[in-house]
Amino acid sequence: MKRKNFYSDDEWQKMLEFTDPLPTPFIVINLDRVKKQYEELAGYFPDSFIHYPVKANPAAEIITLLHRLGSNFDIASIYEMDKILSLGVPPEKILYGNTIKKASDIEYAYKKGIRLYATDCLDDIEKIAAHAPGSDILVRILVQGGETADWPLTRKFGCHPMSAVSLMEKAIKLGLKPQGVSFHVGSQQRAVWQWNEALISVAAIFAMAAEQGIHLQTIDMGGGFPANYINKTHSIKEYATEINRYLSNHFGSRRPKIILEPGRSLVGNAGILVSEIITISKKSRSDSHRWVFLDTGKFNGLIETMDEGTKYPVVMAEENEKKRVGEVILAGPTCDSVDIMYEKARYKLPLSACSGQRLYWLSTGAYTSSYASVEFNGFPSIKSYFYGINE
Ligand SMILES: Cc1ncc(COP(=O)(O)O)c(C=O)c1O
Repeated sequence: MKRKNFYSDDEWQKMLEFTDPLPTPFIVINLDRVKKQYEELAGYFPDSFIHYPVKANPAAEIITLLHRLGSNFDIASIYEMDKILSLGVPPEKILYGNTIKKASDIEYAYKKGIRLYATDCLDDIEKIAAHAPGSDILVRILVQGGETADWPLTRKFGCHPMSAVSLMEKAIKLGLKPQGVSFHVGSQQRAVWQWNEALISVAAIFAMAAEQGIHLQTIDMGGGFPANYINKTHSIKEYATEINRYLSNHFGSRRPKIILEPGRSLVGNAGILVSEIITISKKSRSDSHRWVFLDTGKFNGLIETMDEGTKYPVVMAEENEKKRVGEVILAGPTCDSVDIMYEKARYKLPLSACSGQRLYWLSTGAYTSSYASVEFNGFPSIKSYFYGINE
């Protein structure tokens, strides 16, 4: 893989200068890239409401920047809520998007001013009605998409589309206000037509709800837009063009309010995880590949390499196409044999690579620092540094 496909020489030099003095492992985030991604997506969906899912990367620097740019937020827990409220995000800009919530958490969120909740079952609706009376709700539906997404999210959340309207009727009886429907087609969704399939269900729900006198106004299309990994996807522009076309096909000039929850696509490309080679070994003289052990692994930042799902581009500081390369297995530092990032994928590194050198994991701004364990095997969770806009 070529670093130049992801970073220009200038940008790369700037990153190296900033990171060279820092001890590994760490993640470095270029805030200019976050801004660019946000503005690009907002430009393609001009009337939409972007709710950044805090879980993708909850760093204060990112929240503050996105808040300044006008973003809204999607939270998974009261802990994320407290964090972003403390950074000055007003409660009206927050959607409590997790369908799995304790009654006490709903009560707490309501006291803090949260009035918009995603839900997908009667039990949750009853809890919202009891502890967040009169709130707005979005009913999340099950959609397809698992097979074409790198990180499927389609089984655990959402009700069957045919149950959505009856849940809304029950919610209204309990004093809640159904605003619309939400879905998530799966993270790093490669097949843009999955949004069309989901919107077919949403349009049917809007029509069925209208027959019952419920006038829905909002579609929350979740996340799923891609970051740049090894396996190429369409550009964000191509995704947006297609999705806008589907919306026009299904809703014509009466386009509902659109919510987007882009996580990976906003912050993924902005991050580089910098690791150091601890040891390179062969299991025998005739072993055809080298084991490369790093100071970061599945437990401190690279959990999405599970089942070798997300294939990050991995490069060294200097690119030299003439260097001879050989296959490697990339593994982390813990005493746990699942702590292997890539074995089947057979990444290649120069034969000259040696311990002490750095490996740069590109497009690691999303679901890395927030997914790291706390002190498994005693290793601290991974640090983040920021440059760009706020320097
Ligand atoms: C409710 C919700 N919204 C948005 C996202 C972000 O998705 P993505 O990172 O694919 O944009 C997630 C990811 O887990 C999610 O659970």
